[in-house]
Amino acid sequence: MNKLSTMDLSRDESLYKSLLLTLYTIIPLTILPLQFLSAPYGKHFRPGWGPTLPAPLAWFLMESPALWLTSLLFPLGQFRSHPLSLFAFSLFLLHYTNRTIIYPLRLFFSSRSSSPVPLSIALMAFSYNLLNGYVQSRSLSHYAIYPATWSAWVWARVVIGTAIFFWGMKVNITSDQVLVRLKEEAKGGYKIPKGGWFEVVSCPNYMGEMAEWLGWAVLNWSPAALAFFLYTFANLGPRARAHRKWYREKFGEEYPASRKAVVPFLY
Ligand SMILES: NC(=O)c1ccc[n+]([C@@H]2O[C@H](COP(=O)([O-])OP(=O)(O)OC[C@H]3O[C@@H](n4cnc5c(N)ncnc54)[C@H](OP(=O)(O)O)[C@@H]3O)[C@@H](O)[C@H]2O)c1
Repeated sequence: MNKLSTMDLSRDESLYKSLLLTLYTIIPLTILPLQFLSAPYGKHFRPGWGPTLPAPLAWFLMESPALWLTSLLFPLGQFRSHPLSLFAFSLFLLHYTNRTIIYPLRLFFSSRSSSPVPLSIALMAFSYNLLNGYVQSRSLSHYAIYPATWSAWVWARVVIGTAIFFWGMKVNITSDQVLVRLKEEAKGGYKIPKGGWFEVVSCPNYMGEMAEWLGWAVLNWSPAALAFFLYTFANLGPRARAHRKWYREKFGEEYPASRKAVVPFLY
């Protein structure tokens, strides 16, 4: 290996480490302000945040780095052909194909449009997806430590993590579908969601999303995957609480007080 490539490798590693640290740093920087204000889109949309984008376009653009950036970076890593790396990456792509393409199409073809998304919020989400996409794909295909043998511990991680991931994905997608349908039933307004996990928590779609990345963190057992799960909780936990408060203010006693925000019986 010549001197230049050694330098390039060490620069690449320090970039990876800095961005991983950035991902950990934005966890408290996200959860703290969200205790006092909610991101101004959806139920919490309010004017004064500048120009807006239609929701389907915003979702497509802001989530897209999770598909294109990761697909460009993943093949560059030394573990690009490792079965665990490929498997975990395929779950990541599965989730983001839904979030970037299928979910926006569902919103686009809905007979009632969702609230617009301020460009500033879409840009923040886009930047997050660039950061997270870089960290997750480089971790998966290059910097993660993969076991030399398929021990019982590795099998347990893979089986339990994958089961949690798919359970979360099912709850996330079906809950999103219920909500988008409810928007149509409410002729563009809001109704109290009923049935299934909606009887237990205000935001089963967020609960499912958190479960997905918890399962993914168990499967990967890496600092990068853990950061992703913690960030998802930091972002969606306070938003779920804001949704619950919003339901209680809008619908009063009609909205069951027993429903927690996002973690059944706890939070
Ligand atoms: N990983 C992350 O950090 C992250 C961050 C954000 C979102 N997400 C995921 O992205 C998806 C969408 O997130 P979101 O924040 O937009 O979810 P949301 O607030 O629950 O809204 C989902 C859709 O349902 C509509 N809706 C929600 N509650 C309704 C009700 N009671 N009656 C009628 N219509 C209702 C919304 O319309 P309006 O838009 O008009 O309210 C929107 O079209 C979720 O699956 C979430 O997990 C992930």
